[in-house]
Amino acid sequence: MEKKNIDWGNLGFAYHVTDYRYVSNYKNGAWDEGGLITDDKIVMSEDAGVLQYAQTVFEGLKAYETEDGHIVCFRPDLNAERMEGSAARLEIPVFPKERFIDAVKQVVKANEAWVPPYGSGATLYIRPYSFGISPVIGVKPADEYQFRIFVTPVGPYFKGGAKPIVIKVSDFDRAAPRGTGHIKAGLNYAMSLHAIVTAHDEGYAENVYLDPATRTKIEETGGANTIFVDEDGNLIVPKSESILPSITRRSLVYVAEHYLGLKVTEREVFLDEVGQYPEMGLCGTAAVISPVAKINDHGREIVFRDNQEKMGPVLQKLYDTLTGIQMGRIEAPEGWICRID
Ligand code: PLP
Ligand code: COI
Repeated sequence: MEKKNIDWGNLGFAYHVTDYRYVSNYKNGAWDEGGLITDDKIVMSEDAGVLQYAQTVFEGLKAYETEDGHIVCFRPDLNAERMEGSAARLEIPVFPKERFIDAVKQVVKANEAWVPPYGSGATLYIRPYSFGISPVIGVKPADEYQFRIFVTPVGPYFKGGAKPIVIKVSDFDRAAPRGTGHIKAGLNYAMSLHAIVTAHDEGYAENVYLDPATRTKIEETGGANTIFVDEDGNLIVPKSESILPSITRRSLVYVAEHYLGLKVTEREVFLDEVGQYPEMGLCGTAAVISPVAKINDHGREIVFRDNQEKMGPVLQKLYDTLTGIQMGRIEAPEGWICRID
């Protein structure tokens, strides 16, 4: 399979139109058989549920070329399960897990030429999503839906690659208590756009959001969970009902405990305590592990000592082990790697 002629090493996190996408439509109470198409455009009613009341949920995962030249993706079963929960919360019919995994395989296989080569630093980002496509004008769920997956080759999420970033404490809340912070819905990202534009204008790479009820605890950033390393080299992971249950974070907890022998504590983490930790990282499919050099809290700087010039040593070990598993250099736990070819 000949790869596309792309400067893989210089890709940013951006959308490129690739050759095939997977589409299935839901009508009269059932999903149709679905399949691959080449048309990247969608025609829908001006009054579609997604356009009027943001009835849409999505997922994000990646495909990798491994050291020995296979194409794999990472834990797609967990994306399928998370999307079931997201869909149920927004009254979108669930796209069945087995079909979700099969659709991921089909669309990656069809776009094999777009999977970045092993060692290039780039990966193939896979974006499954479901949205209300039929007209609604009173506030209610649509009758018809589309499930779709496209793929796009991507490089690092943050400009500068692995260079530690500076983030700010957002003045806005990302989630409400008992709201939708724990699901992957477009609406959570729409409300973060003004905050991210403001943060970028002020020179920050991202926002970190506090818990909406008390604004004392660290939740997550706009597109990633947070993790901390204490002075003993152990991992501290914020726990909250209103953050997205990151598959990367759940995998890192396992890697920390079972591969690296670290102690992991999952609990509420207060903004006021994090200054004592030498390393902070953002973790997610897009972010992988991105080191945080500083948080700016309204002029007060919280400095992560071991993340100044580059990622600190514990985050680096976690990063090397996780990406080693994803790219076939390190043996994966049972069921984590899904072979595509
Ligand atoms: N939190 C938010 C708000 C996200 O958008 C993402 C990205 O998917 C994550 C966390 C990380 O989740 P995952 O590791 O499953 O990609
Ligand atoms: C992902 O990591 O898959 C995400 O969805 C983050 C995103 C906001 C780009």
